[in-house]
Amino acid sequence: MTKILLILTALQVVYGSNKSFINFGSFICPREDKALGQCLRNAFNSYVPQLATGVPEYGVPPCEPLLVPAISIQQSAGPISVTSSYTDVSVTGPSKMRVKNVEVDSKKHQVIASLYIPELRMKGNYNLKGQLFMLPIEGDGVFYAKYDDIDATVTIILGRKRRPNSVDALACKSLEVKFHVGNASMKLENLFGGDSDLGNAMNKFLNENWEKLSNELQAPMEKALQDVLKPLADHAFSILDADDVLLP
Ligand SMILES: *[C@@H]1O[C@H](CO)[C@@H](O)[C@H](O)[C@H]1NC(C)=O
Ligand SMILES: *[C@@H]1O[C@H](CO)[C@@H](O)[C@H](O)[C@H]1NC(C)=O
Repeated sequence: MTKILLILTALQVVYGSNKSFINFGSFICPREDKALGQCLRNAFNSYVPQLATGVPEYGVPPCEPLLVPAISIQQSAGPISVTSSYTDVSVTGPSKMRVKNVEVDSKKHQVIASLYIPELRMKGNYNLKGQLFMLPIEGDGVFYAKYDDIDATVTIILGRKRRPNSVDALACKSLEVKFHVGNASMKLENLFGGDSDLGNAMNKFLNENWEKLSNELQAPMEKALQDVLKPLADHAFSILDADDVLLP
């Protein structure tokens, strides 16, 4: 999803937008909601594969693997109460993302994008402590995770941000992520201070129960993603003038 935001950075709006068209770099999209949605989908899909190697002409560095410096996920209600944080996470696979559909509702200033990512692989450091279905868990080490068949829906509400001595910039007023994972597997190294019997048993438990776990962790994971993506979107959109995109 970060990729989409980078694409928006890459698709710099140039001058010359008029009432019926919006000009995004080499893509000129009609303004009418349905046609704009299709045009944005095609534009994203033609840019996404290039993001793996970067788009030097727009100053976009190679972004596969994608590096996420820090994420924290807290869950304290229900059968899971775990405090966890992840650092130096490298993610491969986002450049294989396809945008399935983009829906624009210009009256509500709303854009809804449906995405499909065939596979994401992650590697990084984790630190976690808490309880999973009555079992105590704790660990601090390297983790690996693989997620298959990810469907995600990103809902963005556009807004405007005042700029000193200039016209208003486009802003991301809100961003909501919903996702569904088809299959997942993971490995946490150095659980329970390196006790390998306990660690192996817990890894087996995690892999056998990932679906239940991910249902429980869905809301905090979506919240964590939103917290990562919202400022990125705000930053990416701020290169656009609000009046070029938003209807009065
Ligand atoms: C708006 O821009 C498009 C694409 O650049 C152009 O084809 C069209 O003629 C323009 N319309 C007006 C009214 O200027
Ligand atoms: C899910 O992933 C695991 C580990 O990669 C694999 O063994 C299993 O067959 C997969 N299940 C499905 C339904 O694809």
